Amino acid sequence: QTGMFTYDPGFTSTASCESQITYIDGDAGVLLYRGYPIEQLAENGDFLETCYLLLYGELPTAAQKADFDYRVTRHTMVHEQMSRFFHGFRRDAHPMAVMVASVGALSAFYHDSTDISDPQQRMIASIRMIAKMPTLAAMAYKYNIGQPFVYPQNDLDYASNFLRMCFSVPCEEYKANPILSRAIDRIFILHADHEQNASTSTVRLAGSSGANPFACVAAGIACLWGPAHGGANEAALKMLGEIGSVDRIPEFIKRAKDKNDPFRLMGFGHRVYKNYDPRAKIMQRTCHEVLGELGIKDDPLLDIAVELERIALQDEYFIERKLYPNIDFYSGITLRALGFPTSMFTVLFALARAVGWIGQWKEMIEDPGQRIGRPRQLYTGAAQRDYVPIARRK
Ligand code: SDX
Repeated sequence: QTGMFTYDPGFTSTASCESQITYIDGDAGVLLYRGYPIEQLAENGDFLETCYLLLYGELPTAAQKADFDYRVTRHTMVHEQMSRFFHGFRRDAHPMAVMVASVGALSAFYHDSTDISDPQQRMIASIRMIAKMPTLAAMAYKYNIGQPFVYPQNDLDYASNFLRMCFSVPCEEYKANPILSRAIDRIFILHADHEQNASTSTVRLAGSSGANPFACVAAGIACLWGPAHGGANEAALKMLGEIGSVDRIPEFIKRAKDKNDPFRLMGFGHRVYKNYDPRAKIMQRTCHEVLGELGIKDDPLLDIAVELERIALQDEYFIERKLYPNIDFYSGITLRALGFPTSMFTVLFALARAVGWIGQWKEMIEDPGQRIGRPRQLYTGAAQRDYVPIARRK
């Protein structure tokens, strides 16, 4: 209930918005979705239960969950013209470029969920966003590797449906692996929302102008793509590959501390967490589960990641600055083991975060006091001066 958490005046005066969806205590390493700890949601529920919670504010009853699952499942298909849209891209287009474009293009296909003044249309837009992100993400992957699109199969659960759309091929029988489906479903839960991060703030700012929800989420995807944000999972795996072996870790730790070296430990540090990112712990455990299920005994990159974390957490540079692994540190190793190329890592982050974006967009639109966003600036430019004709300029 509101008022549960008292903010210190300093924080309130700099808060950009009020929200009842997600609470982070960066110093304590706490993350709550509508008051429920991320550890308990990831352990006990599935991603669609988290979606329901984020959208409606309460955990669903069994009947509500069954109805919500059915409503989402009924919208997993995308308009057939969308597949023509994809064929305008080069095959080697980065899947995030395809996602920015195709999610924005949804507003050209689904006019019955773009009138933001209609509560019914706002909810159907939210359901469509959750339902169609896996289909578009799988299409972006299939297009990138030159394989035919695979339609959703709605007798599968959300995560299994997604993995099948990515990895099944017409010439072979695809069997979903429940352990791997559970793992990707849990990864979606971990990425679902995270308060006012850069991409969510982008969605809110875009939505404050009255833009349709699909266009707002496309703006969020564009922001998430950056390596300082959602692109860090791709960058972290590349970094582990660049380090290459455990004995080269000290060299990279040294570089990360050198102010003249732009190198940063990707997957480390956070604007808010000055303690261990609770999602990183669950991600590390999921990583070990996936590698175990796939019979991968020792993944050299995981060995490097675990040793890098151990060394960094004992180094006073990182201790002083309260730099800990964040959600992106172990996700890349896990997603690669599941069969995804690095170019798909941030797409999966966007797939999961779409519910957080649309939930925060909906909360803002439904706030009666909501006005167009207009960040203020501190002007540090030239004082007023008169125009100088070009002939007299030196
Ligand atoms: C996500 O906001 C969210 O919630 C985002 C996210 C979400 O769910 O939406 O959690 C997802 O984006 C996680 C973050 C993923 N990004 C990375 O892993 C990229 C690597 N991390 C850094 O780029 C950095 O930590 C940031 C961008 C995440 C935060 O940058 P800040 O705000 O500058 O970090 P800071 O203020 O805490 O830095 C304090 C000091 C600085 O050094 P000094 O000037 O004090 O000497 O720590 C240094 C920084 O240079 N530092 C690092 C570092 N991160 C910060 N030094 C080496 N390696 C790093 N990773």
